[in-house]
Amino acid sequence: MLRRLHHEQPESFAFTPANQAWAEAQITKYPEGRQASAVIPLLWRAQEQEGWLTRPAIEYVADMLGMANIRVFEVASFYFMFQLQPVGSVAHIQICGTTSCMICGAEDLIAVCREKIADKPHVVSADGKFSWEEVECLGSCTNAPMAQIGKDYYEDLTAESFARLIDEMAAGNVPVPGPQNGRYGAEPLSGLTSLTEYESGKTQYNASVQLATDIGDTIKRIDGTEVPLLTPWQGKTGGKPAAKPARKAAAPKAKSAAKPAAAEGGAASKKPRTLKAPRKAGADDLKQLKGVGPKLEQTLNELGFWHFDQIAKWTEAEVAWVDDNLSFKGRIQRDGWIEQARVLAEGGETAFAKKVKKGDVY
Ligand code: FES
Repeated sequence: MLRRLHHEQPESFAFTPANQAWAEAQITKYPEGRQASAVIPLLWRAQEQEGWLTRPAIEYVADMLGMANIRVFEVASFYFMFQLQPVGSVAHIQICGTTSCMICGAEDLIAVCREKIADKPHVVSADGKFSWEEVECLGSCTNAPMAQIGKDYYEDLTAESFARLIDEMAAGNVPVPGPQNGRYGAEPLSGLTSLTEYESGKTQYNASVQLATDIGDTIKRIDGTEVPLLTPWQGKTGGKPAAKPARKAAAPKAKSAAKPAAAEGGAASKKPRTLKAPRKAGADDLKQLKGVGPKLEQTLNELGFWHFDQIAKWTEAEVAWVDDNLSFKGRIQRDGWIEQARVLAEGGETAFAKKVKKGDVY
């Protein structure tokens, strides 16, 4: 299947503050210089927020990670879990069509999709609420046939029960996920024949259904406030769903009017000297700094930085100020902007700048 960007795209994308904080936290999982490793979780979060991956979202993630847009698009277009076209506003339904499910009635479920949603996969229904596709085995073969809807599995389906689920969702309800034929999990239909002693300790639903119903975020878009910000590697653990974003993230396109703020957990920040416009000889190509892409260069220009020698002179407090005005903290130190800028300001060249000049960095 040809996977390309949809012909209609929104103007812009931005994470919600809570999702921004979550995304920034993901990046801290990886060693310095390896922030690109966070590309899949960030793309996934963008999709959870919007329903599908838009071009602005792909570029936004590329900018956050200091990656070329094309590299992030390569990831987004390679994995089928990323939707590159609009999906239903209520749910995108993924029907497993692999062996067990096919034998047990997946084709009947697809017929329901064709009738109730759209004749073809990846087409949004006339009311805009649903879309569907056939996918490969989702690992729930003992509960075939099944569909993934939002984050959850709806299992042991029949054409009738599946049609009812769609009607319920269209009416604004979220049916309880899991087996739809009375089974608790993947036990025999006739009941347990072993491990019966565990019967009494059972929760109302099996573990994944219980979690889904407890959190209550099954098919809705994820704005980041409904789940705990799980960042145990930063000494923070989960807990109650956060009512508010755990911390405020700087907007990616912060303007120079932003107030200086104290660096997180460190010295007070100080606004560096800025320029209203580049000097007469013209602005330096700040993209020659590793970690600075076109969007970040634009942000730096908006903040009043046009030249390598400006960046080369930033003090620790000034770095903290600039950091506060970028989309996530730590980028300047991690990518070594100041060391790179010193070399370039003195007329030298870095390996990365050489690549940019040769056109090897897109
Ligand atoms: S065959 Fe459908 S979940 Fe495995």
